[in-house]
Amino acid sequence: MQYFVTTNTPAAEKTDCVVIAIFEQSLLSSAATALNDSTNGRIASIVKRGDITGKAGQTLLLHDLDGVKSPRVLLVGCGKKTGIKENDFNTIITAVTKMLDNSAAEQASLYLNDLNVSDRPVQWLVTQAIIVAESSLYQYTTTKSNPKTTKNPIERLSFFTDVNEVEVRQATANGLAIANGMHLARELGDLPANVCTPSYLAEQAEQIGKQFDNVTTTILDEDEMESLGMGSLLSVSRGSRQPAKLITMNYQGANDEKPVVLVGKGLTFDSGGISLKPPGGMDEMKYDMCGSASVFGTITAIAELNLPINVIGLVPSSENMPDGDANKPGDIVTSMAGKTIEILNTDAEGRLILCDALTYSERFDPAVVIDIATLTGAIIVALGSKTTGLMANDQKLADDLLQAGLDSHDKAWQLPLWDEYQEQLDSNFADIANIGSKGAGSITAACFLSRFTEKFTWAHLDIAGTAWTSGGKAKGATGRPVPMLVQYLMNRISKN
Ligand code: BES
Ligand code: MN
Ligand code: ZN
Repeated sequence: MQYFVTTNTPAAEKTDCVVIAIFEQSLLSSAATALNDSTNGRIASIVKRGDITGKAGQTLLLHDLDGVKSPRVLLVGCGKKTGIKENDFNTIITAVTKMLDNSAAEQASLYLNDLNVSDRPVQWLVTQAIIVAESSLYQYTTTKSNPKTTKNPIERLSFFTDVNEVEVRQATANGLAIANGMHLARELGDLPANVCTPSYLAEQAEQIGKQFDNVTTTILDEDEMESLGMGSLLSVSRGSRQPAKLITMNYQGANDEKPVVLVGKGLTFDSGGISLKPPGGMDEMKYDMCGSASVFGTITAIAELNLPINVIGLVPSSENMPDGDANKPGDIVTSMAGKTIEILNTDAEGRLILCDALTYSERFDPAVVIDIATLTGAIIVALGSKTTGLMANDQKLADDLLQAGLDSHDKAWQLPLWDEYQEQLDSNFADIANIGSKGAGSITAACFLSRFTEKFTWAHLDIAGTAWTSGGKAKGATGRPVPMLVQYLMNRISKN
């Protein structure tokens, strides 16, 4: 969709549909009042009839009102006039987008000007509205023969503002870039693992390098990783017919400045390996590359916006399969950092590929390193599917990420990474075991990674719960945490 800003009054706006807020207890918004005045009181009398009460997400489509230039007026319930929560706002935008998409209107103008969403500025409303609108229209079609199509889909949305026009226009660009990044992340996540292999991800990264002048992509193959001593990463891919790839996307938006390194787990299918997973729902392990998908989405979003910052997207990509040459429980491998690892469970493979990528990230002299990984089922037990798990070796970085989560409404919650947990990784036969003893599975996974991040400021995002919606009709990738990551990078820039 395309997005614009309008400063016309709702009665004077010439489009297919103007969208006007009605608040609870049938209170009219300022745009509804203006439209009421130009229609001889029609809006108030229709609302009085009781077909719309103002509950968040209710809609009522009106046609051919005298005194209004546009043929349609969509009334939308926006909850309490005094203020609503972000989730209500998402409900409202989803309802409006679906209604418009199913109507014959191809363009519309939104008058949501006096909506109070937790006191957030109009720029936030516009960015968030675009993210939610695009998200609600997302459809996976790539491997369907007859994808559903909409007649007269909605193609152009304008946002009314009477303040900060330039900033609101920028907010539309931000929203679209983030939405596009999420779209890419969802598409990559939803692709089946026989299409989306490590080589496929590498090709996508090459594509992104061609698409944007300031992104340079390099791919390391298994031989090159072997010479670097990445024995941990390669032990995982050894059990698979698909060769591993180490993908680097270097986004250069600023001159001399240390980069932010984003490391995304790119496990294109996680069968568990010899520690095979149970069959129920195993198809969802195609989503085990959603960390890398969020790195792809973040790199394209910031490249589209030309953000003045340096970011490296680093993606270790492999499959985890059972095979005659696969890791066996008890095997000991040597990581690039030189530490030996006893593999007590071959299903704890994410950390095995991430640890070598984290060591590799040292060479970029990073300002900070953030890894994003569908790392543990335990994080779903702790936080469910709403909240990303966050652990860090630096509280300032943790706070900045938590804040970015709140700002973008793509939230995380911190778990402790205290030394007390480290001993759970003790091994009788190697420097470290790849799983902890009982309990705190998400924390011990982060503890494992922390052994490879001592030389830099680092945070870990466990997105096993938030990266996709599980099971049933709603099954699919979410595109999270692209909004949080882009927000974090934007916040870094505005603090400089
Ligand atoms: N990719 C999984 C984590 C996961 C599990 C994501 C369920 C989403 C849903 C990861 O590789 C894994 O298998 N982790 C194990 C670790 C365990 C063996 C210590 C887990 O969480 O069960
Ligand atoms: Mn696993
Ligand atoms: Zn995994």
